[in-house]
Amino acid sequence: MKICVTGGAGFIGANFIYYELEKHCEDEIVCLDNLTYAGNLETLSEAFNNEKFSFIKGDIADRTFIFDLFEKEQFDIVVNFAAESHVDRSITDPEVFVRTNVVGTTTLLDACRAYGINRFHQVSTDEVYGDLPLDRKDLFFTEQTPLHTSSPYSSAKASADLFVLAYHRTYGLPVTISRCSNNYGPYQFPEKLIPLIIYRATNDLSIPVYGTGENVRDWLYVEDHCSAIDLIIRNGKDGEVYNIGGHNEKTNLEVVKTVLSILDKPESLITYVTDRKGHDLRYAIDPVKIETELGWKPEYSFETGMPLTVKWYLENRCWWENIINGEYKNYYEKMYGGR
Ligand code: NAD
Ligand code: DAU
Repeated sequence: MKICVTGGAGFIGANFIYYELEKHCEDEIVCLDNLTYAGNLETLSEAFNNEKFSFIKGDIADRTFIFDLFEKEQFDIVVNFAAESHVDRSITDPEVFVRTNVVGTTTLLDACRAYGINRFHQVSTDEVYGDLPLDRKDLFFTEQTPLHTSSPYSSAKASADLFVLAYHRTYGLPVTISRCSNNYGPYQFPEKLIPLIIYRATNDLSIPVYGTGENVRDWLYVEDHCSAIDLIIRNGKDGEVYNIGGHNEKTNLEVVKTVLSILDKPESLITYVTDRKGHDLRYAIDPVKIETELGWKPEYSFETGMPLTVKWYLENRCWWENIINGEYKNYYEKMYGGR
């Protein structure tokens, strides 16, 4: 099979490429990525040694380019990871989120209709369901939970989901969608909470915690997300949505304190800063559908995945130092300066 992985130079897409190359060495993987600030060819350096892997630089929202590519490559499966993925950036610059996450997704869907595929898989997010109250631990997101978005990021992802489902109903396109909770693990860009804590604590820099730090996220080790998507693209049912999560709910403060303790750094590094606008309170996934229908189970808990993640960042300093010493400095100043 020939699998097109869009956004494969980013965090989860790259982990997925490594997962597929190892588990399904018979399949061919073509990574399609525009190499935005979040895309990094260094992340894929080992994949380039595998003859089943190839890389194409290109924009999923460039219709002419995408149609030419799909005509030439005749993909069997498309897994769409490509997106603008950071909520804070969507608050300061929403437009590119509409272009990539909505127009890019519909462009891919149109190319799949034109040239045919066995499966288009959309990598979506639990953020499309909005948030849950902090005082109702009995509530979880199921696949039936109505879409109710908060940020420009989640609104663009929800719009894309609606187009994916519309292309199934209207044109019979074979699609699936997964909605996963927060991921952590190797190769995550240091704008996101966990790698940000690790690189700042390692350098004895302050850790910016938004608001009170009481917001809750449901953390999943990235490899478990990859194994879930692998099952869905091979065994999932056309037109279905699958939630992915491992019941690892933590407040942001708990996350920060866990990482500081693994690194043996003082809690005095914690600095409370102005809250994120529209900050979602709590995410919590009910994964019973993917567990019962596809037999998926996560292999890692927060307690096992977090030390592995910290270890990876300590052993791969070059990877993140190259990032934080570049354009990222301006990003950090713009987002956090005077906050
Ligand atoms: P990321 O920001 O690390 O990577 C995104 C990748 O997409 C980058 O390589 C970037 O270069 C590429 N890209 C961006 N715009 C493009 C375009 N127009 N054309 C081609 N490539 C483009 O993101 P991530 O954290 O790996 O997330 C991947 C996907 O998973 C996203 O769709 C995101 O919504 C979803 N998701 C993420 C999480 C999480 O916790 N990170 C959880 C659930 C779902
Ligand atoms: O739930 C899935 C989503 O998880 C994905 O769809 C998104 O692509 C991904 O970025 C992530 O979104 P979050 O907004 O939850 O992740 P982030 O790492 O940005 O923030 C996690 C929590 O930490 C959130 O409550 C905001 C808080 N935070 C974040 C940063 C960057 C801080 O307190 N300080 C920070 O500096």
